[in-house]
Amino acid sequence: MDHIVITGGNRLQGEVPISGAKNSALPILASTILGGGECVITNLPRVVDVLTMGKLLGMLGATVVHEGNRAVIKADAIHSTEAPYDLVKTMRASVLVLGPLLARWGEAKVSLPGGCAIGSRPVNLHLAGLAKLGADISIEHGYITATAKRLKGARIYCDTPTVTGTENLMMAASLAEGTTVIENAAKEPEINDLSEFLCRRGARIAGAGTDILTIEGVQELQGGDHDVIPDRIEAGTHLVAGAITRGDVTITNCRPAHLEALLMKLREAGADIQAGHDRVRIRVTGRLKGTDIRTLPFPGFPTDMQAQMVAVMALAEGTSVVTETVFESRFMHVEELRRMGADIRVEGNRLIVTGRPTLTGAPVMASDLRASAGLILAGLAAEGTTEVQRVYHLDRGYERIEEKLRAVGAVIERRKARTSPTMR
Ligand code: EPZ
Repeated sequence: MDHIVITGGNRLQGEVPISGAKNSALPILASTILGGGECVITNLPRVVDVLTMGKLLGMLGATVVHEGNRAVIKADAIHSTEAPYDLVKTMRASVLVLGPLLARWGEAKVSLPGGCAIGSRPVNLHLAGLAKLGADISIEHGYITATAKRLKGARIYCDTPTVTGTENLMMAASLAEGTTVIENAAKEPEINDLSEFLCRRGARIAGAGTDILTIEGVQELQGGDHDVIPDRIEAGTHLVAGAITRGDVTITNCRPAHLEALLMKLREAGADIQAGHDRVRIRVTGRLKGTDIRTLPFPGFPTDMQAQMVAVMALAEGTSVVTETVFESRFMHVEELRRMGADIRVEGNRLIVTGRPTLTGAPVMASDLRASAGLILAGLAAEGTTEVQRVYHLDRGYERIEEKLRAVGAVIERRKARTSPTMR
């Protein structure tokens, strides 16, 4: 397993180009199942999860030509409606093929995703919504089996705004008979991006970005082209890299409107931020001030930026209270940051972060995608060398992170795993 080695202390300066959004690419790729026409998807991030989704579509029988940031997909005939455990266990977002398979082919068998480092990650709201649309659903031997002659429009209320749940149900309802209303829908920008792509292919969806979606089912969807929106979490991560190193960093090819909550918090902490049409410049000269963070569904502060903000608050002046309201155990980065000298107390779903003047480099272990990012950021500012192990977590969602950071002055490199010393 590769690891990333960072020598901290450099102020980052320069421009970081942002790649396409992983969490938009995944539902958009899954939605190609909904029609037989050719789909050309561009601005795909070169990350493992996108490759995995392409592989899954191929396993189902779609023709997938995936080169770099572009994929051409044709799902006119498929030969399987099963997403197997061995693949789903590597990427829980595989559940996004459930709605499209059921809507287009009347059946789907998808392995239950199971939990992960950040929580139990149930899919009960996905299943309850599909049942409302008329699907017969059973769970046996760790698999979801869903069948429906033809889905019928219904009124669905989601107990909590679920991003992939809203996406699954929006895709399924696109081909249902009649009208579907999804209340308490998720409002993340990735929902808008998917809705735009589906409407371009003939779907009739209104309300994306609000908490009430109305979908008029149609007989079929055509093919279509789509340029994936920029990744707001990658953008936020590189902005925090500029902040934590007291640098001067401009992120380009981004959508500042998707970053509002983060920009507000960084300004509150004392960062100088200028937002342009498709770029944001952050400058930090002195020590940032501690700031309270509460993660919430969009447009609230994104849970996917919580670990990164804890890292920068660990070096801020004063105390920050960080409340994680979206997932039940998204604090895997805390123990590792403590090993770098961070002063963090865990109280239920809250962290009490008392800023320290410095952190010290250390060997640390990545546990999930965003926790890994938090550790990289801490390493950029720590005194000495930090070695982040198990960086395969990072590769799931960040395109060339060490190259992008090195280009703005970080001393960072990826090293192939040493083979463990043979037992003598
Ligand atoms: C999406 O996950 C993102 N993944 C996550 O990003 C992100 O953290 C999350 O949304 C929240 O913004 C993708 O888009 C591929 P949810 P998702 O359903 O859809 C509960 C990353 O790092 N819930 O919005 O799985 C759930 O337990 C990843 O890029 C149910 O109870 O998250 C959680 O508490 C990590 N029942 C809350 O809702 C359900 O059926 C929000 O989860 C579904 C969800």
